[in-house]
Amino acid sequence: MNDIPAIYQGKLSTLEEIRVSPLSRAYTFSDSIYEVVPYFKGKALCFREHFDRMKNSAHLMDLKVDFESVSSDLYLLSETLAEKDGYIYYQITRGIDPIRSHLYQDDLELERFGYAMPSNFSSSPIGAMLCNDDRWGKCNIKSTSLLGNILAMNKAKSLGCNEVVMHREGFMTEAGASNVFYFNEKGQVRTSALSENILPGITRSILIDALQDTPYRVKEGSCSIKDFNDSPCIWLTSSTKGLLPLTHLIDTDYKLQENYQGFLDVVELFNSAMQLHLAISK
Ligand code: PDD
Repeated sequence: MNDIPAIYQGKLSTLEEIRVSPLSRAYTFSDSIYEVVPYFKGKALCFREHFDRMKNSAHLMDLKVDFESVSSDLYLLSETLAEKDGYIYYQITRGIDPIRSHLYQDDLELERFGYAMPSNFSSSPIGAMLCNDDRWGKCNIKSTSLLGNILAMNKAKSLGCNEVVMHREGFMTEAGASNVFYFNEKGQVRTSALSENILPGITRSILIDALQDTPYRVKEGSCSIKDFNDSPCIWLTSSTKGLLPLTHLIDTDYKLQENYQGFLDVVELFNSAMQLHLAISK
């Protein structure tokens, strides 16, 4: 892990070489936003969408970001991926306090940090645990304040699962690090509507667009967790997982129907959409 290319304040080096202050507000308050951009054979998937989401997160956190510097950082990191598959993790922090203070000074220099990680994105279906969504009320901001996700996911880990599907008062929100889709008993594809309770996933929108003019057009809205008991297939979407089916969901009767034709079709439509996006990616 030592020679992972990384950047801090515009200076390219390696993860091992970067030193940060313990008074960074990322460290004391998780006062920071981030993005994870996937690359395939060196080409970014939906770069513009990730960039725009980061701009929106910055706006919602009142971070005054110089996005030209961000662009230049991302370019330098992407070059290190060359023809490889992988992803860029990129974070912007409000800055380093002179001494820890909840109230920040307006003139702090923002901290920009990122790294480029080669990955083959391989994954096979996983188990998940259903649980209450205990997170804060602005999950649409891609902030590093992820304690609610972390506690839930690690509880799931103690039960042999790698993910959670969260709900508020019986209605699904999303997973710990992914959005969630499923087939209901009528064969409709469902996912939660966008709100402050979920992250507007880029993979989520690739899939919704890909299914738009097909028999699998996605019905976004309120999704009762009771639907899971009769679902043949629940799956996650994220930039690093792509489309990943759940084998089972603890606290429901759900069990994956492997080879469910609807899901096989959905995967094919998603893969074609990915190829189209990559074909126009610079
Ligand atoms: N996670 N919801 C949450 C809470 C997430 O953390 C993520 C992504 C998603 C899916 O978003 P996208 O399709 O844009 O990757 C939904 C990233 C990959 C992470 O934190 O590592």
